[in-house]
Order: sequence, then C-alpha cells, then structure tokens
Amino acid sequence: MEGLNAASKKKIAMAVAAHKDEKGPVKLMLHDIQHELGYIPFEAMEAISEATGVSVAEVYGVVTFYTQFTTQPKGKHIINICMGTACYVNGSQMLLDRILELTKAPVNGTSEDGLFSLDATRCLGACGLAPVAIVDGKVYGQAYTSKAVENFVLETLKASRMKN
Ligand code: FES
Repeated sequence: MEGLNAASKKKIAMAVAAHKDEKGPVKLMLHDIQHELGYIPFEAMEAISEATGVSVAEVYGVVTFYTQFTTQPKGKHIINICMGTACYVNGSQMLLDRILELTKAPVNGTSEDGLFSLDATRCLGACGLAPVAIVDGKVYGQAYTSKAVENFVLETLKASRMKN
C-alpha cells in the first residue's frame, strides 16, 4: 500500500479487521472503505483478498458490478443528471452538455481540480420534475430552465477561484 497515506491504510485495515469473521465479508469491507475513503483503491482490494482468500479479480468484479463503489476518488461536489426518457425529452442532454462545459468533468468522472464529479444516471423516479438533477443529495426539478445547477457550479467555481 505504498501510494496511500497512513490514515487511509489504517482505515482499510480497520474495515478489513471489522468484517473478516463475518459472512459475506467482501461487500461489508468494501462498503466501509467506500464510506471512509470515498472510493476503493486497488490496495484495499489487495488487503481484502489477503484477508478473505477471495482473489483480487473477484473483489474487483464486485467493485465494478455495484454502482455504489467507485475506483476513483469522487469530487467535492457530486452532480447526478438523469438521462431517463422523461428527462431526456425535457432537455437533460442540454443540461449535461452545459454542466460538462462548466465543470470540465468527464461524464461519470471527476474534474481535474477535484471540485466536481459528474454522473449521468438512469431514471431517478421523479419524472414529473423532468429534467431532474441531484447535487450533493439535493434534488433539482426543471433543472435545465431553472439554471439552478448551472448557478451552483458557477458559484462554486467563483468561490474556489477567490480562495486560490
Ligand atoms: S426519467 Fe428522469 S426522473 Fe425519471
């Protein structure tokens, strides 16, 4: 675990130790590590493999199968834009393009400055509000015309520039 700092290594070791004697420990360990670090580094998969006897390839398979796990650190702000049918016909592609242009975050990735993660998601179950976006857990309806997400991004960028 050379690339990680001591605090991260300790969190991984604790998550592994906490669940190694439980049934189905891999998902439990991954859940704790995702919660603690915000992502699953490769070193964590190795540690889980060592403790459980499950191969690294299988652990990696679990990580990539469940959308709750990510292998890359998430940005400070997480923007989900629904690309389900109702949202799509109501402008979610235009919203996505605009937010992509502003944040410079790739779709389903994180901006280089670490400020934003941008995810294109399936139906969020709020089609009556289409197009829908969720920013840091807060739901925005009519998100293209309201410009709420756009304004949030612009404000965040402004605040970040003032700090630097
Ligand atoms: S299609 Fe976007 S919330 Fe259902």
